[in-house]
Amino acid sequence: MDQQHGTGFVIWLTGMAGAGKSTLAHQLSKRFVAAGRPAEVMDGDAPNELFTRGLGVTKEDRDTAVRRFGTISRMLVRHGAVVVVASLSPFREARDAVRREVRRFVEVFVDAPMDTLIARDTEGMYRRALAHELTNVAGIDDPYEPPVHAELVVRTDQEKPDAALGRLFQKLVDMKYVTPAEFALLTGGLRPRKGGAKPPKTVPPPKAKAAGPVKVVAPAKAAKPAKKPAAAPAKGKQAAKGRRG
Ligand SMILES: Nc1ncnc2c1ncn2[C@@H]1O[C@H](COP(=O)(O)OP(=O)(O)OP(=O)(O)O)[C@@H](O)[C@H]1O
Ligand SMILES: [Mg+2]
Repeated sequence: MDQQHGTGFVIWLTGMAGAGKSTLAHQLSKRFVAAGRPAEVMDGDAPNELFTRGLGVTKEDRDTAVRRFGTISRMLVRHGAVVVVASLSPFREARDAVRREVRRFVEVFVDAPMDTLIARDTEGMYRRALAHELTNVAGIDDPYEPPVHAELVVRTDQEKPDAALGRLFQKLVDMKYVTPAEFALLTGGLRPRKGGAKPPKTVPPPKAKAAGPVKVVAPAKAAKPAKKPAAAPAKGKQAAKGRRG
């Protein structure tokens, strides 16, 4: 049996576009590799993305992307890898299915308020969605269901990536996925706290409701709500691209 068997796990970063998933994912994998753990990133927004090829932005297609990430994650975890998935993955049930499948699963809700996301808007996607030029944008005219039982919530409008990584590494020690010695390597010599992570001062607990229908995140107050998308986008409108994962 592989010596690493049973030591792998998945860090699943979910959150709306621009929340900071890729930023955290790449920093995470760099730290793990530097600390001597085999780590892989699967990023739903990577260009020429094989995993999301052929998929659109329907619920079914978004869930298919999540299933693909989940299956590959399970295979890699079996061989001891730390798998970091950065995926919008807006639907709770699909994420929970991966949790059941992989088991060693650490869900991180990468969160920021809509006005922050709109201010970042690295690809101009929210601007176009609010101008009704683009449809199927999660948080505008498509749902995003926040996790109910995320192992960690990161508010990227309030916390720098370094601080978020520190809290995540502590969580991984608490879950016994990372040893105290590895924690020191991951954090440049710090020691983990005994008895669990202290709640962050600035980060409030997740507001996710325990159950209920799909939560549609309202757009920023200043912005006019986008109309419900038609079954097929009207002429001049485009469905969001590259947002499947
Ligand atoms: N913790 C943070 N604090 C401040 N800015 C951040 C933080 N995390 C990310 N950002 C900034 O937010 C922008 C979006 O980040 P990133 O591309 O990682 O988001 P994403 O969730 O991967 O988005 P997408 O779903 O579009 O791929 C970037 O300009 C990044 O520098
Ligand atoms: Mg990204």
